[in-house]
Formats: sequence, structure tokens, C-alpha cells
Amino acid sequence: MFRYSYEILVNKQNRLDKAFVPRPLVRPAIPFDASADDPKRLLEADAAQAAEELFAYAKAAGLSLWGISGYRPYSRQAEIYRNAADIRYVAPPGASEHQTGLALDVSCPRNSLELTESFAGTPEGQWLSKNAHLHGFILRYPREKEKITGYAWEPWHIRYVTKSLSLYLALTGLALEEWVTLHSPIRTRTSP
Ligand code: DAL
Ligand code: ZN
Repeated sequence: MFRYSYEILVNKQNRLDKAFVPRPLVRPAIPFDASADDPKRLLEADAAQAAEELFAYAKAAGLSLWGISGYRPYSRQAEIYRNAADIRYVAPPGASEHQTGLALDVSCPRNSLELTESFAGTPEGQWLSKNAHLHGFILRYPREKEKITGYAWEPWHIRYVTKSLSLYLALTGLALEEWVTLHSPIRTRTSP
């Protein structure tokens, strides 16, 4: 079990407990394709504030970003995984960043609010790939890092990591897995 932080690495090798729920969870004031009381609207409080900032900058640029899916409890991830048509895009329960409250899937009306690769070709998707890191987010599953992240390219999945880390990762081109390995020599070192 890993300590919760904005730098937490959650993937197939580093899973969250079934009972883990981030606190506090709040509803960011952003357009969302979900009913008002749907838990998928929730994000961890600092991530929610950063999302509001990100979406406000997109709006000021004349773009229309929408939230599609934020927080997911373990039980919901288990259900999605059971019903998944293509597990290259779906984390097993406990292995999803959505359980941390720090991940948000976004789309836009130009992409019919769908989570598909074509989002990357829209003005919103292009703006997001250039600007997410200025507001504390990274595009967590880049096309060229599929072997490292364990997931297919998802141009719609952003992850809050704080501005200092998002800027560092954008400048170095490191995936979160690579950064954690570089910065945790003791935890990741193999036996002598
Ligand atoms: N789509 C990402 C990998 C998830 O299911 O958390
Ligand atoms: Zn996602």
C-alpha cells in the first residue's frame, strides 16, 4: 500500500486497497456529461480546483472542454472491467487512477463527448496536449509510452500531479512510472 499524495503512482503493479477513498472529494464547477449527483463528477479538492482553472483557460481560448469521468470507486471500476470490450483501455479494480480522485477523462462536443482517439485531432484535444501541464495535469497515457504505462494511448485521460511535477514531466518527457523509478532508488532497487 502506497501513501496517498499528488505524486502517487497507481497502475497494474501498484494498486490501491479496495476500501481506499480519497478525501475530500468535491464537485468541480466545470461542464460535465453526467447527472448532478453522479459520483463520476467528483474529484479530490486540489485536483478539482486545478480542473476549474484548466477549463477556464480553455474557455478563454474559445474552446469547449467537458468532463466525462472523474472519481470512480473500486466497485465501479470492477464493474467496468468485467464489462470491458478492450482491456487495453481499462484498468483492473485497484489499478485505476480514477479511484484516486486525481484523474479526469475529458472530451468536447466536436468529438460528440466521446472518449476516442479522434479527440486528439480536435482543437480542444490539441490545446489540452499543449496546456494541461501549465495547470498541474499530465496526459497520463501517451501514444509512445504504452509499454511503460501498461495502457493504450488515451489522449483524453488527464491526471493531476501538481504544477511543479506536471511542468517537470512535460519538459523531460518522462512518464510518471519513469519519474518514480528515477526518484525512488531505494524502493525500486533490486536485491544486491
Ligand atoms: N482508462 C484507465 C486506464 C482506467 O481505467 O483507469
Ligand atoms: Zn481515464
